[in-house]
Amino acid sequence: MTPKILVFPGSNREGSFNASLAAAAAHALTVKGADVTRISLADYPLPIMDEDLQKRDGVPENALKLARLIALQDGLFLACPEYNSSIPPLLKNTIDWVSRVSTDAGRPLRAWRGRVVALGSASDGQFAGIRGLYHVRSVLMNVGAQIVTEQCSVSRASTAFTEDGQLGDERNARMLDAACQSLIDHCRAVANR
Ligand SMILES: Cc1cc2nc3c(=O)[nH]c(=O)nc-3n(C[C@H](O)[C@H](O)[C@H](O)COP(=O)(O)O)c2cc1C
Repeated sequence: MTPKILVFPGSNREGSFNASLAAAAAHALTVKGADVTRISLADYPLPIMDEDLQKRDGVPENALKLARLIALQDGLFLACPEYNSSIPPLLKNTIDWVSRVSTDAGRPLRAWRGRVVALGSASDGQFAGIRGLYHVRSVLMNVGAQIVTEQCSVSRASTAFTEDGQLGDERNARMLDAACQSLIDHCRAVANR
């Protein structure tokens, strides 16, 4: 079985370290045989979650597009920046809006439910954004995703990537490989249930 895996960073910043990590993860997953789609959340702009807005205008089209795309996948790899030891607003806002989608053309659609997710983080600091991943993990579990244990947190990110976009340090490369392998293994295990 070829797992379908969506990869995106939780940052739209120009030169984002997490975009670099997402690219390296997409490469590793492709080499391992996954059918990878890589996107940028910049292509799915969303307003700040606002229940009055949802009541007035419904769920934004971009949230519905993302929900449809996510629901088509077996798994996701998310590369998440850490903001003040926690989940960055872009990612939280995206998770929240997508969680508000419950139907599509009258059919039930719960995009996060049952998705297998692997997490990565990258920061130029020494803690590698690892503290934020506790919160990302918790939020995603609470919307019904299944998060694999292995994760890849890259410290000193401004010097961590080689010119061809790979992780230069062997320990970082092993962490990414383990997270990607676990993601693929869990996607296959879920599909075989
Ligand atoms: C509001 C804010 C809070 C931040 N807090 C943290 C933090 O707690 N830990 C950390 O390692 N970096 C922190 N940073 C720095 C980010 O890790 C850094 O901006 C990083 O490059 C963001 O990821 P990106 O390169 O993918 O955009 C913070 C940045 C901002 C803007």
